[in-house]
Amino acid sequence: MIDIHCHILPGLDDGAADMQEAVAMARLAYEDGIRHIVATPHFTSAYPNGRAVVESGVRALQAELDREGLAVTIHPGNEVRLEDAARFRREAESGAFCFLDRQESFVLLEQPWSGYNPETAGVVAWLRERGVTPVIPHPERHYFFRDNLPLLESLIATGAWTQVSVDSLLGRNNAEARQTAETLIRRDLAHTLATDAHNVNRKPNLSHGFRIAAELSGAERAEQIHRRMEQIIPADRDGSRPAGTEAG
Ligand SMILES: [Fe+2]
Repeated sequence: MIDIHCHILPGLDDGAADMQEAVAMARLAYEDGIRHIVATPHFTSAYPNGRAVVESGVRALQAELDREGLAVTIHPGNEVRLEDAARFRREAESGAFCFLDRQESFVLLEQPWSGYNPETAGVVAWLRERGVTPVIPHPERHYFFRDNLPLLESLIATGAWTQVSVDSLLGRNNAEARQTAETLIRRDLAHTLATDAHNVNRKPNLSHGFRIAAELSGAERAEQIHRRMEQIIPADRDGSRPAGTEAG
């Protein structure tokens, strides 16, 4: 499996505190069946973790995992908060942050926690014109999407994807987030699942999420989510993932 949202790089944001914890998170991910992790440190005004910092962090962590013999591949990414549309476009064009994939076809585009950014529709259209699919992380955790699902559906209609967090399905965020996460899965408004893991407690748990998705809406829907995620990080990206070892 692939985790497209994980704060595993040590010492950059509110994720892994140090290399030891990052390795422990990678081990938990491996035991869960995850073989590829996109490291997505926050990219916000408070946490300006840009491309250079992410790429060197990925190299350092990968070297450590290789030393440990842990067969998990770390990919560079960012969780980019849409604080200002003009700045976002400038930073996208200048390569300030990492997309979710080397081809720059997907970007993890987070909403501010304080309220919906009304510039979002324009940014989604701008990205789609450039062949980029924005993936909106954990919409079920944002009150403005929970209270107004048509708002989220309108973004999906113009080409945005969503990412539901497994912790929401497990009820670890709050009851409303759980209910909305279930609704998104049932109504086929959940394009991807991810852990949004931050440490060994708020940890990688993707297989549990896929089991819940299959219970809520059938094995075919869960498999469809899995296939969408493979569009972001293909299974044979670097040959490091042995065939036939994947859990759904
Ligand atoms: Fe996150």
